[in-house]
Amino acid sequence: MPGAGEGPGGAAGLVARRDLAVRAAVAQGLIGPDRPVIGLLDVAGIRAAARALHAAFDRVTAPGTPVLHTFAVKAAALVPVVRLFAEEALGCEVASPGELAVARAAGVGPEHTVLDSPAKTPAELREALALGIAVNADNLGELARLDALVAAGGTASPLGLRVNPQVGGGTIEALSTATATSKFGVALRDAGARDRVVRAFLDRPWLTRLHTHTGSQGVPLELMVQGVRAAYELAEEINRAAGRRQVDTLDIGGGLPVNFASDATGPTFADYADALRSAVPGLFDGRYGLVTEFGRSLIAKYGTVLARVEYAKEAGGRPIAVTHAGAQLAVRTVYAPGSWPLRVAAYGPDGRPKPESPLVEQDVAGPCCFAGDLLAVARPLPPLAPGDLTALLDTGAYYFSHHFAYNSLPRPGVYGFVTGGAGGDGGNGTQSGGGGGAGGDGGVRFATVRSPQTVAEIVAESGGAHPDALSGLG
Ligand SMILES: Cc1ncc(COP(=O)(O)O)c(C=O)c1O
Repeated sequence: MPGAGEGPGGAAGLVARRDLAVRAAVAQGLIGPDRPVIGLLDVAGIRAAARALHAAFDRVTAPGTPVLHTFAVKAAALVPVVRLFAEEALGCEVASPGELAVARAAGVGPEHTVLDSPAKTPAELREALALGIAVNADNLGELARLDALVAAGGTASPLGLRVNPQVGGGTIEALSTATATSKFGVALRDAGARDRVVRAFLDRPWLTRLHTHTGSQGVPLELMVQGVRAAYELAEEINRAAGRRQVDTLDIGGGLPVNFASDATGPTFADYADALRSAVPGLFDGRYGLVTEFGRSLIAKYGTVLARVEYAKEAGGRPIAVTHAGAQLAVRTVYAPGSWPLRVAAYGPDGRPKPESPLVEQDVAGPCCFAGDLLAVARPLPPLAPGDLTALLDTGAYYFSHHFAYNSLPRPGVYGFVTGGAGGDGGNGTQSGGGGGAGGDGGVRFATVRSPQTVAEIVAESGGAHPDALSGLG
């Protein structure tokens, strides 16, 4: 399991593979003066995380229980990544028409797809029901829309309702979805809300699922467990009132936090499954099907943003490494560094780790034209020089899907890799660079997950097709 230190998901293997991949990325020309920033994804690590998730829940679930683990596409909305997870028997949780299209492009079928967005339009709901994908309504108003669609044509979609158990927030307010005033779901502890939810189910025989997601990074395990227990207790109450097993599936969301402080993984999926089993044993006795929606915990530790140091300078006595990775990639880290600190590793121009001594306090800056575009401030690092590489660690989740178009900087290419003997080629068999396997680069093979954005594409998405639009208005 990830975190055990051994095996593809363990910390030692993770670091060894990452170092090999950085060196090979230099040797194979994936990164260089003209391509100064890239993303890397460790295929063996991602596969190991998916397998650890299955194993953790298999261990605590009654045999024969229907369990669908989905990958929250928002964490890395990249078709080959979704396809890789599908190969590992994970479906998709999607929250927009774009994410649904990504899931479909990856070949994920409707029976393995769950739609959760908080602002679904009538057209989106119609499409979801026509496709037969599972839908979790966010609120009672959305249930009213579903009433009309179900009456009009029926559907094969399993339909559920998201509830906010209002159990409290974690350390990052913006990612805490079970606070008293969260915008998500039906706020269960509000006056009369619980009765309204029970009534909503009794009035709709086709409503068979309850959904909850207590939050993401920063939410402690105990709070996640409390949120799931609240949903389970509500399901039991609804089923008692209905006199039948109307709620047949609980969607417990995602949210397992990731350790950004070291290469160790924890809490693990097994920790979470064990905590759920002790606090909510009825969840696993086979009476309820289960859906999970993990994102960050499945991929964060297996991604690296690698950027070249363009200049090394000094201001006010502080060395500053000016690199090509900044707010355009790491928008949360730059704007909320207290909530989203990242580790930075230093490599030389040849892609080998720089000696750990001496360490000098430095700022690591990005390329954006504002003073706050800093990935690290006064961070003790080996002295960085032009041509060195900085690696932003644990950036596999959300960093490749939270673009920031400021300064019209391009989205970098993202490359999956396997090291010698790790198996697989990242799903699409495309080899990037040259020389895979040869030349003492650890047999690292790369596959293009996403091509770097071109300047022509930037112009196109910047209104390039309408140059006269405003002057033509008079
Ligand atoms: C409904 C829902 N499910 C799953 C996730 C994935 O969360 P995480 O990446 O923390 O596992 C999110 C994240 O925002 C979410 O809103």
